[in-house]
Amino acid sequence: MMNPRIYLSPPHIGEYEQQFVAEAFASNWIAPLGPQVDAFEHELAGYVGIKGALALNSGTAAIHLALRYLQVGPGDRVFCSSLTFSGSAYPIVYQGAEPVFIDSEPESWNMSPSALERAFAEAERSGKLPQAVIIVNLYGQSADMAPLLALCERYGVPVIEDAAESLGATYQGKASGTFGKFGVYSFNGNKILTTSGGGMLISDDVEAIKKARFWSTQARDPARHYQHSEIGYNYRLSNVLAAIGRGQLRGLEGRIAAKRRIFERYFQAFATIPGITLMPEAPYGRSNRWLTVLTIDPQRCGVTANQIIETLEAQNIEARPVWKPLHLQPVFAGTAYYRHREDDSVSERLFAHGLCLPSGSNLQEEEQERVIDCVRKTLRR
Ligand SMILES: Cc1ncc(COP(=O)(O)O)c(C=O)c1O
Repeated sequence: MMNPRIYLSPPHIGEYEQQFVAEAFASNWIAPLGPQVDAFEHELAGYVGIKGALALNSGTAAIHLALRYLQVGPGDRVFCSSLTFSGSAYPIVYQGAEPVFIDSEPESWNMSPSALERAFAEAERSGKLPQAVIIVNLYGQSADMAPLLALCERYGVPVIEDAAESLGATYQGKASGTFGKFGVYSFNGNKILTTSGGGMLISDDVEAIKKARFWSTQARDPARHYQHSEIGYNYRLSNVLAAIGRGQLRGLEGRIAAKRRIFERYFQAFATIPGITLMPEAPYGRSNRWLTVLTIDPQRCGVTANQIIETLEAQNIEARPVWKPLHLQPVFAGTAYYRHREDDSVSERLFAHGLCLPSGSNLQEEEQERVIDCVRKTLRR
């Protein structure tokens, strides 16, 4: 008989979610918006230490609103990390602008300051700086914000921090997501905090959040009849899903600890095997270890990352390659891309050799042993 399936990062429901959802039902507040939404915004803002938070139905919506607020439009360029999920960059195109992709650096796998510097220098020479920079924090680890922000400040370009995967992580003691003009979280089903689907836009600029709130709620002018002077979106989170989010937030620190323990066990199992390298944790902060990710040197391991993924799949274990860099995606073909170094494209290397292992915070030790065992056997073969 087939072993039960082990998923990459399934939802992990704790003890408070049902209580808050029951409150939403008891109050008959099943509508979008409502007291659970307000409370979720307030509690998440308190957790990360920010003044303004706006609960939305996706992280992609949050990025879209931030770009619109920064007046990104046709003819503009937006710099964006290449090694990420497509949702980081789609909203650039929604706004009619053009993405320019920036490579990763090997220390954190996040945006390379040297690639960003070259992209800025060239943009300045061409007489057209980008309208915004989207810095992504990959797999739960903050990018090296200090040099990246210094460059963006030098050129006077605002930053959107895509912290969809890094809620609960820190950089120099400060919450990941709170470094740019705007920060973005995702509560998609596989994220460390899930509402089944959802997102949050945050900023210390409460007026900016107010404007984004207006657009996200169908741009209703203050009038008893429905009146609209601007184009809006239906982007808000429902009261029921916000109730799940509140419960999830209460258990967040525990899930981070669990994911870090999972990483630690993989590390103990694989770190000494020649040819296997686990995603490093940069010394400047704490990763939430959303996913444990490693790279396989096929010469030294005798197998490719893809072969390992296939063997795991045959054992009913879900593993995935590292994100396919966006500059390699068919939909973004022909887009400009700046490598870490002229002769080194880090994101392409990570994509070719990386794999994400099951890392759900509810993964049992016996299940993790199954994964480790299967990887070891594949290596031996
Ligand atoms: C880095 C990153 N950015 C953006 C998104 C988009 O978030 P959502 O799925 O909530 O729209 C995701 C995940 O889904 C992501 O991983």
